[in-house]
Amino acid sequence: MPPDNLTQVADFILVGFPGGEEIQVLLSLVFLVAYVLTVTENVMIVVLVWTNLQLHKPMYMFLGNLSFLEIWYVTVTVPNVLVSLVTKKQSISFTGCMAQLFFFLALACSECTLLAVMAYDRYVAICNPLQYLIIMDHSLCTHLAVGSWLSGFLIATGKVYFISRQTYCGPNIINHFFCDVSPLLQLSCSDVSAAELMDFLLALLILLVPLIVIMASYVCIISAVLGIPSAQGRHKAFSTCVSHLLVVMVFYTASLFIYARPQSIDSFSSYKLISVVYTILTPLINPIIYCLRNQEFIFVLRKTIPWRAMLS
Ligand SMILES: *[C@@H]1O[C@H](CO)[C@@H](O)[C@H](O)[C@H]1NC(C)=O
Repeated sequence: MPPDNLTQVADFILVGFPGGEEIQVLLSLVFLVAYVLTVTENVMIVVLVWTNLQLHKPMYMFLGNLSFLEIWYVTVTVPNVLVSLVTKKQSISFTGCMAQLFFFLALACSECTLLAVMAYDRYVAICNPLQYLIIMDHSLCTHLAVGSWLSGFLIATGKVYFISRQTYCGPNIINHFFCDVSPLLQLSCSDVSAAELMDFLLALLILLVPLIVIMASYVCIISAVLGIPSAQGRHKAFSTCVSHLLVVMVFYTASLFIYARPQSIDSFSSYKLISVVYTILTPLINPIIYCLRNQEFIFVLRKTIPWRAMLS
């Protein structure tokens, strides 16, 4: 129990990035461009999937969900970083900090399950092609999509419940650019062991279960693909999975690195750098990975955007 005479801090200071005025201006520009690009790309994917009957297939519906998720995922952190870079106002209220943490975790956890759902979709498409449309019917797709979002928000509720019940009596300086789990727990003046254990167990659950589903799906996919006699057939079957596999690898490398990091190593500059990768870079490159590799998507893009058609 925390001592009674310690009072809870009312707000936190997010330190953000070190460096002089030029670096701050440069960072603001980089973040602004990255943000605008990410939102534009992902909105484009959602709109294309929704407006083209040709893309009303489970794979693209889930891709639409992923893009929709990533629009909010960057919006939870980046605009706040931009505002504080420009206005030099670094404080965030306790409630604001917890809200940011909650939405950030909820979206990150939903992404884990959504990636597993997308792997399962590819597994059915390749290992059970004749029954694909019967198995992945509208009802199952809706359940899988809703389930991904629900599981993410539930896990985040559990984590934030424990973290918000800690006492924070100061200092209130968070050496990070958004409210994340471990920088916050380091500031707690009450016993963090229960919160840390819960955080670890929930992280394990939400990272490992989807990872097992993804790996099992790919074991089946790869053995099915290797059984296809013609090289062209193998290539065609596997090409729909390559983008998903790339996205999974980027996402899981960053997440596992964050969670598998020993608590004692407090190299916060590398922690910040990896955080930049998974908060900003991943949502920016995912649509590119998906769309540039996908013939069907490129075709719809050409058809939909008039100036593209005029050029080609
Ligand atoms: C998410 O997936 C479900 C199920 O396929 C679909 O009905 C819904 O429209 C998708 N949402 C977005 C934003 O694409």
